[in-house]
Amino acid sequence: MEINAKSYFILTYGCQMNEYDSSLVEGILEREGYQRAARFEEAEVVLVNTCSVREKAEETAIEKLRNLQALKRGRPTVKLGVLGCMAENRKEALFASLPKLDFAIGPDHYAELPRLIGGAEKSLALGNCPDDPYRGMFAVSGGAVSAFVAVQRGCNLRCAYCIVPSTRGPEKSRALADIVEEARRMAGRGAVEVTLLGQTVNAYRAQDGNWIDLLRAVSQVEGIRRIRFTSPHPRYFTAGIVAEMAELPKVMPHMHLPVQSGSSTVLRAMRRQYGRDQYLATVARLRAAIPDIAITTDIIAGFPGESEEDHLATLSLMREVRFDQAFMFAYSPRPGTPSAALPETIDRTEKIRRLEEIIALQLEHTRERLDARVGAVEEVLLEHPSRREAREWVGRTPHFRKVVLVPPGEARPGQIVTVRINARRGQVLWGETLP
Ligand code: 5AD
Ligand code: SF4
Repeated sequence: MEINAKSYFILTYGCQMNEYDSSLVEGILEREGYQRAARFEEAEVVLVNTCSVREKAEETAIEKLRNLQALKRGRPTVKLGVLGCMAENRKEALFASLPKLDFAIGPDHYAELPRLIGGAEKSLALGNCPDDPYRGMFAVSGGAVSAFVAVQRGCNLRCAYCIVPSTRGPEKSRALADIVEEARRMAGRGAVEVTLLGQTVNAYRAQDGNWIDLLRAVSQVEGIRRIRFTSPHPRYFTAGIVAEMAELPKVMPHMHLPVQSGSSTVLRAMRRQYGRDQYLATVARLRAAIPDIAITTDIIAGFPGESEEDHLATLSLMREVRFDQAFMFAYSPRPGTPSAALPETIDRTEKIRRLEEIIALQLEHTRERLDARVGAVEEVLLEHPSRREAREWVGRTPHFRKVVLVPPGEARPGQIVTVRINARRGQVLWGETLP
């Protein structure tokens, strides 16, 4: 098979920010004449965008990279590169574990990618910039109905468990004008929904606007009908901000508001900058301003020093809030983070027991919240045909609940249909379209 010297393939692990970054890298490469290959076996430049958030994420990526090195046996000209958080986190050490690796590039250096691909030496491009390194650069849209748009890179908080401040550096908000331009481009390629991304997204503040200015400006973009964002931090949801957000009809009634723990003692040790009561007050404020809002969260089980009482406090907070969904994790010490210096007081078995209790409780709440929608009429944004049954489509309600339905006649991605919810199966709602 003839392989195009300017073909590339990116494999992406990690969070939505990484998915976004991969589409930004596509933008940078395509400007230089590169073309995306259908599979890595058909690419001359193979990139793996990596995540360091938990140990497991790093292990998975290293394993994949080890296997990808075999590509060079048949085709020594292939270039293999590591992108993302692991580049910053592991630095030179990556070359020791991956002898065939050509280069590693941290999240602020993707503009240098064409130069590194051309280089003959093994190379690193690392370190964080004080300002947005991608001014006037835009992600390439894959044509999806729902698109990610980064509004902020890095993070100024110092949560004790988190590797992000050291991999993505301090917070830098992107210019509002660039964000609006990117949203326009996404809409031009068929997006009707944008999800604004940032580590503490509601702390957004650029020279040309603040968080509310941003939501208003994106609301004006032609073709964009729904706006979501992730992840906000409770600290920046003041009463005034929440009231202004509630006035914006395109901002969807779903908030992913990571809590991490229900114990104020653990929250203090995590340096989360709020206690249990403040978190609950934020939830109450959101629910008062946006009735019936869906709230989802992240929870970490087994942070160092977490007592049984702290664990029970997490369960009780979950019962109070009744989250719609949650991402739940066992604590994983990340070398270099403040909490990595703390002795791990909870052994693996105990950590997993706590995590399993949290997961079981959340499953009850998820089902309860979904069951409450049976009989309701919802506006569902169609995403794609179901993989199971030709006539069925999958879409999302404003609250971000997944619905399966049979649309009337010809359906297309991006269409919004009115649906009556008839049932819940597992964690998915089923509905019938109404005229
Ligand atoms: N161990 C376990 N979970 C973590 N998270 C971040 N760092 C760690 C860690 N060291 C979780 C948090 C965060 C989500 C993205 O990942 O819950 O919100
Ligand atoms: Fe995303 Fe955090 Fe993983 Fe980096 S470490 S890819 S910011 S989840």
